[in-house]
Amino acid sequence: AFPKQVRLVEVGPRDGLQNEANPIDTATKLELIDRLGAAGLTYIEAASFVSPKWVPQMADHREVMTGLTRRQGVTYAALTPNLKGLEAALECGVEEVAVFGAASEAFSQKNINCSVAESLERFAPVLERAKAANVRVRGYVSCVLGCPYEGEIAPAKVAEVSKALYDMGCYEVSLGDTIGTGTPLAAKRMIEAVSRDIPMEMLAAHFHDTYGQALANLYAVLEEGISVVDSSVAGLGGCPYAKGASGNVASEDVVYLLNGLGIETGIDLDKLAATGTWITQTIGRPNRSKVGVALAAK
Ligand code: HMG
Ligand code: MG
Repeated sequence: AFPKQVRLVEVGPRDGLQNEANPIDTATKLELIDRLGAAGLTYIEAASFVSPKWVPQMADHREVMTGLTRRQGVTYAALTPNLKGLEAALECGVEEVAVFGAASEAFSQKNINCSVAESLERFAPVLERAKAANVRVRGYVSCVLGCPYEGEIAPAKVAEVSKALYDMGCYEVSLGDTIGTGTPLAAKRMIEAVSRDIPMEMLAAHFHDTYGQALANLYAVLEEGISVVDSSVAGLGGCPYAKGASGNVASEDVVYLLNGLGIETGIDLDKLAATGTWITQTIGRPNRSKVGVALAAK
């Protein structure tokens, strides 16, 4: 059955921007974050405390995290792949962080330079330290519906890595179709496998729209009971370690779909769409939200 409410996790400022080759100034990122909060998003992934050599666009993570104006009721989160990233994030007053692993060995190596097992060993002290600081940790699993290097990924492998993150103390596991190759039936089967070990309400869908399947896949997993959806305003984004990957499913499109299903989000679609128009014009990118484009033309 469909959930009554869905929480959107807005990843535009992080997943949406991390792959942009041209530098985007910190002020633009801060304005984006502020506009998203004003549109009613309650969870915004604002920055990524990763190596600036690996992801130059996220090099101003400290400035972003300390420069943002916090709104009541909004969580501002950041990616922290290791203790070094977590310590820096804590210094900047982060409320919540995320570790990111993968269901694919090859992707793990390319993305975070270690095996899946090594990544889990690396995350354990991050979770311990975060717990001591009263900071919640979200866990990502990449390549849940396919890998750019290994191709098909077994649902059992996704379930195994997800469970490891959950057992370690991640309060939510976000399942990433990093390259957007998934289709609804595969998405449903994957969710069924993972939810045997982890309660449905602790799972999130993080779907990219490279093959135009993201909304269909979301519909399929919402029907299974998924109630947390990661999305990116204007469908911005791509992963630096997954060639050809396009952005996340557009937040505007997700809100429009959920509105139609009578599922509450608390988001002001017009404000969100205006934010999508503004950010794509500002950074010179096409608006990949169909809803955003339609509303802008009205
Ligand atoms: P490494 O080279 O194995 O680590 O990188 P290291 O510990 O040997 O350190 C090497 C250098 O990086 C050192 O600097 C460290 O200080 C520095 P040097 O001595 O050479 O000058 N370093 C750091 N600097 C800043 N912050 C840090 C940090 N850690 C080390 N936290 C590491 C390992 C994980 C750091 C590296 O591989 C990395 O930064 N990878 C980034 C990967 C990334 O950001 N990918 C995109 C996000 S994941 C994603 O998009 C998928 C997702 O959306 C879900 C989905 O769609 O599937 C979440
Ligand atoms: Mg992603």
